[in-house]
Amino acid sequence: MFYRIMESKGKIGIVGSGLIGKSWAMIFASVGYNVVLYDVEEKQVTAAIESIARELKQFESEGTLRGDTLTAEQQAQLISGTSSLQECVQGCVYIQECVPENLELKIKVWKKIDEFVGSETILASSTSCIVPSKISADLNNKARFIVAHPCNPPYHTPMVELVPAPWTDEKTRASTRQIMAEAGQGPVSLSRELPGFVLNRMQYALLNECFRLIKDNVVTPQDLDVVMKDGMGMRYAFMGPMETIHLNAEGTQNYCDRYGETIYDVSSDSGPIPTCWKQESEEDKATVAKIHSMMCTTVPESELYNRRLWRDQRLAALAKLKRSMK
Ligand code: NAI
Repeated sequence: MFYRIMESKGKIGIVGSGLIGKSWAMIFASVGYNVVLYDVEEKQVTAAIESIARELKQFESEGTLRGDTLTAEQQAQLISGTSSLQECVQGCVYIQECVPENLELKIKVWKKIDEFVGSETILASSTSCIVPSKISADLNNKARFIVAHPCNPPYHTPMVELVPAPWTDEKTRASTRQIMAEAGQGPVSLSRELPGFVLNRMQYALLNECFRLIKDNVVTPQDLDVVMKDGMGMRYAFMGPMETIHLNAEGTQNYCDRYGETIYDVSSDSGPIPTCWKQESEEDKATVAKIHSMMCTTVPESELYNRRLWRDQRLAALAKLKRSMK
């Protein structure tokens, strides 16, 4: 047991100390919450705490540390670990569950957490794609259950989707939004649960068109990526598609008056969902294998790890630039 409580604005429990749990711990500590990490693997908690201290120091030296008032060392001191689930979740204002994406496991873990929590604690899951009603249906405290789905890596992509179950109460929806805004994690509130939430629905709509264009030999994957990274993505890094169209004409009404018919006609030409996602036929398998090998000419499989490190460094620099613009 290696549990430590300091002066703070409240206690947040993190259940699951892998990639996402670690990130949430750093995000909440950056604004002064006392964070307690738990994991079924005790050594995972120790490793997470050591790596958090290292990463916070590194972010501080690179100028990408989050939070306005606390140093890396002060933030690290707010984070501690425990090998007891009860000790992690008792007395929390907020709990963020970050165990692997498996419905049975999440139900089991939440049933245990449910036994220990107080009547005010917010219960949040990081799940990427399981709707909250499936995880929380049998919880005593289900009115305070919500999904808080981050983008990866959460520390440098400060957005979170808040997805309520049908029984999530208004207070939980509002308080979660407030905690996230305070932690600098731009909250996006959904009015109801639906498959893919918002981020993945947008991502998949885009990927469907990308796969159609590549499969039909209209464009190579490399050139298609240029359209995003040197074109659309330049403005999407600081402005969403809705504000983009609002500015691209004399407002959204004028944009629809001018371009609506064209958009409808082009969209009608787009075609159905590519079947290659399912890889059921030999043709679909060959399509995926071909796109994969085309991508490997840009990033060979042996280079994926290094390229991810490069990506995270670029995201950190972009996040720093965006903070400086505020
Ligand atoms: P991970 O595999 O890095 O970490 C999961 C941790 O949970 C491990 O340390 C494991 O030991 C621990 N664990 C397993 N069973 C447990 C139990 N019964 N009690 C406590 N801890 C337990 O997984 P990762 O990537 O951090 O994902 C966690 C959640 O976050 C998943 O639901 C995932 O879908 C979601 N998420 C992941 C993103 C990603 O890109 N990795 C992005 C957004 C959300």
